[in-house]
Parts: sequence; structure tokens; C-alpha cells
Amino acid sequence: GKSVVTLDDLSTDQILDLLRKAEYIDSHRREVAHTCDGRVIATLFYEPSTRTRLSFETAMLRLGGQVIGFAGSQLASVTKGESIADTLKTVSNYVDVVAIRHPKEGAALVASQASSVPVINAGDGGHMHPTQTLADLATLQSRFGRVTDLTVGLCGDLTFGRTVHSLIETLCRFGNVRFVLISPNELTTPQYVLDRINATASCSYVEVRDLASVMGDLDVLYMTRVQKERFFNEDDYLRLRDTYILDEEKMALAKPDMAVLHPLPRVNEIAVEVDDDPRAAYFEQVKNGMLMRMALESSVVGDELPGYEEFANKEV
Ligand code: CP
Repeated sequence: GKSVVTLDDLSTDQILDLLRKAEYIDSHRREVAHTCDGRVIATLFYEPSTRTRLSFETAMLRLGGQVIGFAGSQLASVTKGESIADTLKTVSNYVDVVAIRHPKEGAALVASQASSVPVINAGDGGHMHPTQTLADLATLQSRFGRVTDLTVGLCGDLTFGRTVHSLIETLCRFGNVRFVLISPNELTTPQYVLDRINATASCSYVEVRDLASVMGDLDVLYMTRVQKERFFNEDDYLRLRDTYILDEEKMALAKPDMAVLHPLPRVNEIAVEVDDDPRAAYFEQVKNGMLMRMALESSVVGDELPGYEEFANKEV
């Protein structure tokens, strides 16, 4: 198995295969329940998480495997000064696969280089969050039947939002996406991400400040939280955190089949009243996150999902 630090570590065919596997897993839960019997995953979370850690763990448990790990570096030997590399040289003796979340960009790459087993990036600082993108793609696939030919608005903290960076890079690979980048001037998209769009002939972007004026153009609105933990200055955070609030009034401007995504957790940026709108897809995204992690974990450890090959062949 190979580590997944960014989705560039997977071929486009592999990503499409994971999407099909997630669909298969959802409808064949009992058949896949022993796929990873005897396997162990380590979840090393140096930063808070609800969805990512619990879904990585649930995914392995639902495949028949087991889980070790820590949540909060204060519980581990990091507090004694142990490096990420030494931690991975240790833990990779115990397990078949590691999921790591860390506040520093590049931590997952360092971990993968030190590990003797595949490492999956569960979020490295403001850089990348590839398994969130897999959940996002699965949600687009189930809502639209495709991940291309879409106008995708991304709104909020486009500077520090790692889910945004991963999603844009991956959608560029599939092509034919018009990005509408909606943010305050202080939180625009990093140049390396814009370069990726510019390098993709079939994709384009516009940067705007106002959400209401673009609502009617969007097939997808990907809302994000202003990333408090990445700000140097509390005043800046307080000034910017409520720039965008998606509510029923703004939803009235949107297409009837638009989909609202959000990686969660949310703070104020989506009013709770929007949850009951059929266009709200963010709790579907959570479910898709677990299914995609089941697909990815079984793949990286090299375990075949019973019955999947027949299912995939029949589909084509
Ligand atoms: N979407 C996401 O990464 O959520 P958590 O921070 O709760 O894992």
C-alpha cells in the first residue's frame, strides 16, 4: 500500500474506483464486515477532530479491524520532545495503516517518509485534507451523478481552509469546473491553488466578495468556517468570522437543485434553519466520509471487498 498525503498520490482511476467502492459498501455492509479482520489502524491526532478521527476509526471497526491511537498530543510522548518521525518509526511497527492529523503543513509527508506502513493525511495545518475531499466528491457524485461540468462556489476562509485547497486541486483533475471564490480580501485563495486552476485549460475562476450576488449561478456552494486556530491575531478573527452567514433568505436566491456542502464543524456560517432545506448536503457528506474512509483503508492495506469485483464488472 501507498501513503496518501494529497490526492495526487492516487490516480484518477483509483479515485473513481474508491467512489464506486463506497457505493458498494453502503449497500453491502454485512458482506464487507470482515474485509479487514486482523488489521489495526493507528489514529494519531495532534489536533482536535470529531468527524475525521471517529470516522477513520468507525471505518476500520466496520471492516472488522481494530483501532489504537491518541487524540491530543498531551497524552503521548510528544510532550517529552519526541519527533513525528520517531513516533512513526515506532507506531508503524504496531499497525497496518496510520491516519495522522497535525497542525503543521507537511507533517503528513514527514510521517509517511518515516513510516513502514501507509500513512493517510487526516489534515495537515492549512495545507490539505484529502479524505475530506473524497467525502466531498462522493457527495457531488450522489447529488449530480458527476464531479465535472459544475459551477462551484467556495465561500469563507479560502486562505486557511485546507478542505478548499484539496477540493479545488482534485476538481481540476476531473476538469470543466468554474470556480467562484467568495471571500473577504484578507482570506483569499493561496497562489499555489490559483496556479493549479490556471494550469487547467477546462477550468476557470473568479474571485468575489459578495455571496448574495452570485448565489443564482452556483450548482454547489461549499461553505467553510473561518479557521480561528490559524489566526495570529484574535481581533482579525473576530472581525472576519461572521462575514458570511448562509440563511433562508440567501437560499431563496439559489437554484432549486443547488447543493450546499460544508466540511463541518460550523460555527455561524450556516444558519440552523438551512438544515431542513433539501439542498443542504452537509450531513450526507459526513456519512460519505465514513464510506470513503472504509474504501480507502481497505485499499491501502490491500484487502479486497468481498463481492466488489463482480459488482464493479457488472456496472461497466
Ligand atoms: N471535517 C472535519 O475534518 O471535521 P473534524 O475536524 O471534526 O474532523
